[in-house]
Amino acid sequence: MTDTPVHMRHMPDFVTPVAPIVIDHAKGSWVYATDGTKWLDFVMGIAVMNTGHAHPSIIEAVKAQAAKVSHAQMNIYRHQPMLDLSDKIAEIVPKGMDTFVYTNSGAESVENAVKLAKQVTRRPGIIAFHGAFHGRTHLAMALTDSAVHYRGHHEPLVGGIYHARYCYPFRTPASEDPTDYAIEDVRRVLRSEIYGDDVAAIIVEPIQGEGGFIVPTREFMLELRAIADEIGAMLIVDEIQAGMGRTGTWFCSEHFGVKPDIMTIAKGIASGYPLGVVVAPKDLWDKCLPGSMGGTYGGNAVACAAGVATIDAMRHEGMLENATRQGAKLKTFFEELQATYPSIGEVRGKGLMLAIECVKPGTKEADAAKAKAFIAECSRQKLILMGAGSLGNCVRFLPPLNIPDADMDVAMGIFSAAATVAFA
Ligand SMILES: Cc1ncc(COP(=O)(O)O)c(C=O)c1O
Repeated sequence: MTDTPVHMRHMPDFVTPVAPIVIDHAKGSWVYATDGTKWLDFVMGIAVMNTGHAHPSIIEAVKAQAAKVSHAQMNIYRHQPMLDLSDKIAEIVPKGMDTFVYTNSGAESVENAVKLAKQVTRRPGIIAFHGAFHGRTHLAMALTDSAVHYRGHHEPLVGGIYHARYCYPFRTPASEDPTDYAIEDVRRVLRSEIYGDDVAAIIVEPIQGEGGFIVPTREFMLELRAIADEIGAMLIVDEIQAGMGRTGTWFCSEHFGVKPDIMTIAKGIASGYPLGVVVAPKDLWDKCLPGSMGGTYGGNAVACAAGVATIDAMRHEGMLENATRQGAKLKTFFEELQATYPSIGEVRGKGLMLAIECVKPGTKEADAAKAKAFIAECSRQKLILMGAGSLGNCVRFLPPLNIPDADMDVAMGIFSAAATVAFA
């Protein structure tokens, strides 16, 4: 026990953090460790702290609500922050998607979205995608396909789940069209594995997160909408990582002009307080049986108050616009770096959901070692990053949506210096 670093005390080895520090406090884009060091945070709790650490109006809202009531279980009574948050969410989600069930996490939102689709359609099957990540609960991990460690040794998995090819333009064979290549595989699933009228839902991330920030084509998303309509299935869009302003619009599916039947939200909704939401039109929810969904803690009053303050702060401080502007700047920066370092195979993403994919120069062969070296070098220079991608060769960039120019300039300086070491 004496040789164990303090941040690993009483922790299993598999939860080794990317930054070997204990946080004392954090503010904006920065975290301050107990050893006196200061770090630039480009992970933000994995796309959770979209409003930056310790946003003053969110702290105020949390304090005020904690002093009034923190737990007001939704089957017993309603609390005001939930009503207020529902009004605010109704303003930012697609029109008609006006009814919400609150949960504690992303995975729980996914579970309930799938349960809703099954109840509405009375069908058993779900189509998900290769490279998908939907969470770690038993159903969510069965939908997940981004890495074996999420599913392996957990068999038997929930049945009735079929995976098709996601639209991955960078890794589509040159002779193929990225949309057709992926959609043909959805059609294959419907030809070879499950009847269309047994499919309750198609569930898709509008940009794959853990899978490597893969941006599909607009046509792929539109085709999925069309296929769901054709077979009478629900289209569930998982906006847990890509939503809440991360890509410069409230929800990523807006970029594609696709309206889901059901949408899942979590992460950025409440600036760090555990909250998830399943969004759908009332007529869908009205097909659910009483008691078939819910839980003790879903829609916690303090978390909902944080959610209200989060949406207000994002609106009043122009965070979506800043995400678009800073995202464009960072993307251009990496595209310029790519001209010098052919280890950067692709720069992709929208808004401040950006990634680079590392390859062996002149090929598309994944180079996970280069991605790891870049992350390690940035960490040495006290900038926190995380990897992504089924091949382990992507680096993701998730700064706060209100990152100021000065912090972005510091980050780009570190990225330039790290590239000379990692990509040389
Ligand atoms: C797209 C997506 N769905 C679901 C989840 C699961 O969310 P949680 O970790 O809150 O259960 C995640 C988490 O990374 C995610 O990125």
